[in-house]
Amino acid sequence: HDRNVMRELILSSRTMGRRIGFIPTMGSLHAGHTSLVDQAVAECNDVVTSIFVNPSQFGPQEDFEQYPRDFDADFNLLARHDVRWIFAPDVHEMYPPGDSTRIEIDGPAEPYEGTLRPGHFSGVATIVFRLLQAAPSHAVYFGAKDWQQVLVVRKMVHDLKLDVEVMTCPTVRDTDGLALSSRNTYLSESERNRAQTIYAALEQAAQNWCRGLAIDTIEQKVRDMLSAKEIQIDYADIVHTESLKKISEVSQNTPAIFLIACRVGSTRLIDNILLPSQALSSC
Ligand code: PAF
Repeated sequence: HDRNVMRELILSSRTMGRRIGFIPTMGSLHAGHTSLVDQAVAECNDVVTSIFVNPSQFGPQEDFEQYPRDFDADFNLLARHDVRWIFAPDVHEMYPPGDSTRIEIDGPAEPYEGTLRPGHFSGVATIVFRLLQAAPSHAVYFGAKDWQQVLVVRKMVHDLKLDVEVMTCPTVRDTDGLALSSRNTYLSESERNRAQTIYAALEQAAQNWCRGLAIDTIEQKVRDMLSAKEIQIDYADIVHTESLKKISEVSQNTPAIFLIACRVGSTRLIDNILLPSQALSSC
C-alpha cells in the first residue's frame, strides 16, 4: 500500500539485474488484464500490478462511486498469474491532502475522449506518472482497446523522457466479439446482447475498407448498424492511428483505425479496430 516501500522493493530487484514489468489497473480484473499480465510475465523477471480506482480521471457525473471493486477476487486472480507484487494504495497515498499538481497533455489528449470527458486524460497521465514513480519499471503494459489512452501515455513518456517502454497488447474479446471491460458488468442481459453489435459493426467496417468503399459510406453503415440497436453514438470515425486526425480518403499507406464510443442504455463503451493496409494480405 505504501509508495516508498513499493519503490524500494522494485529498486532492489532492479539492482540484481531483473527486468520489471508493470500493469496499472483500476481492479475489477478480467481476461483483458490478465493477458497484459501474461505478456509481462513472459517478457520480464518480476511483474507488478497496481489496483487503484483513480478519482482524478472521473468526471463529476461519472461512475467513480459505482465503479466495481473486489480486491479479494483481484488478488486471487493475480496470484494465479505469477504477479510478484500488487500495489494497492489508498487515495491519500496517491493524492495527499492539499495535493494540486496535475499533468496536462495537448495533442493526442485533445480530441474524442479529451473533448467528451474534460480532465480525463489529465487524471490518467497524472496517476500513471505517480504510479511509475512508485513502481519504476522497465516496461508498462496497456490494452489497445483504450487506443487514445496509449497515445497519451506514449506522448507523456516521450515528452518527459521517462525511462520506460510503453507496450500495447491486443484487445481481448468475449466469444461474441464484445471487448472485455470492467464496465460490461453494468449491462443488463438485453443490453449485453445489443452491445455485440459494436464489434460486428467494426468488423464490417474493416471489410468495407478493404473493398475500397468511401470513408463516409463505411462510417455511415456503422452508425446505421448501431442506431438500429438503439445504441447512442458519441463518435464513430476513421482516423489516423497516431495523429487521430480524420481520414478523408481510403489510402493504401495511411495507418488507420476505426474508433467508436457509444452508450448502450446508460453504459458508455469504447472500442476500435485497426484497418489493414490494403497492400497486405489481411485485407
Ligand atoms: O486503463 C485504466 O484502467 C486506467 O486508465 C489506468 C491506466 C489504470 C489509470 O488509472
